[in-house]
Amino acid sequence: MIEQPRMVKICDVVEESPGVKTFFFKSDLDFVPGQYIMVWIPLIDEKPFTISYIQKDIVGISVLKRGVFTHALHKKKAGDLIGIRGPYGKGFNLQANSNSCVVGGGIGMASLTTLVDRLTDATIIQGARTVSEIIYRKRFPGMKLCTEDGTAGFKGTTVDFLMELLNTQTYSKIYTCGPEKMMYKIVDLAKKQQIECEVSLDRYMKCGFGICGQCDCSGQRVCIDGPVFNTTELNKMEDFGKIDILKTGERVNIHNR
Ligand code: FES
Repeated sequence: MIEQPRMVKICDVVEESPGVKTFFFKSDLDFVPGQYIMVWIPLIDEKPFTISYIQKDIVGISVLKRGVFTHALHKKKAGDLIGIRGPYGKGFNLQANSNSCVVGGGIGMASLTTLVDRLTDATIIQGARTVSEIIYRKRFPGMKLCTEDGTAGFKGTTVDFLMELLNTQTYSKIYTCGPEKMMYKIVDLAKKQQIECEVSLDRYMKCGFGICGQCDCSGQRVCIDGPVFNTTELNKMEDFGKIDILKTGERVNIHNR
């Protein structure tokens, strides 16, 4: 049976960057980093978001304004209601004392924050096009930054930065979330160095419970078999880093988008 959304009241809204806001609300979720919740705005739609903050019974989701639904969400203020159901999906497999590296690209960083909160001494890398898109700077002061235009930190991509870092540093595990092209290159780099990887895939979801096939990636349904997949699973997923499925159901080459 499909769980019905429960209404929660937004108690605070924080602007993380010009395009990203975090919405906080009270809820006692039993949540594993990497899982997601479905957020419902009555008369508009329902969409998946990961949890980016969780402290006792206060939960936060960070939302990038990019479509009709997220524009509507960005207009919400403290006191407004939204519906939530979940959490759903398979999250990260945490190795708390491992020597880990966490790599986030753009809003993908939101999927990694609660994981970082539970890891000790992880190297955190965030990549963005430009300095104004960097999020959680105060929250993770030791975070290494990469910007494509060089306005903060390393000038270049997270992949370029990681490649340099791996010349002097080794890790037992790399966790990543961001554009699929970026994650594909990181997994490839990690394989060459025999480092285990876990990625959180972002695919367009419709039903969110494994029925419609919209989120398929080589037979794996991202909504229930993921969104987190490890290197062994990714090795069997031919479409990873190559093919995406549009809202219309059309299969497209990721590199042509
Ligand atoms: S969103 Fe429908 S099967 Fe995953």
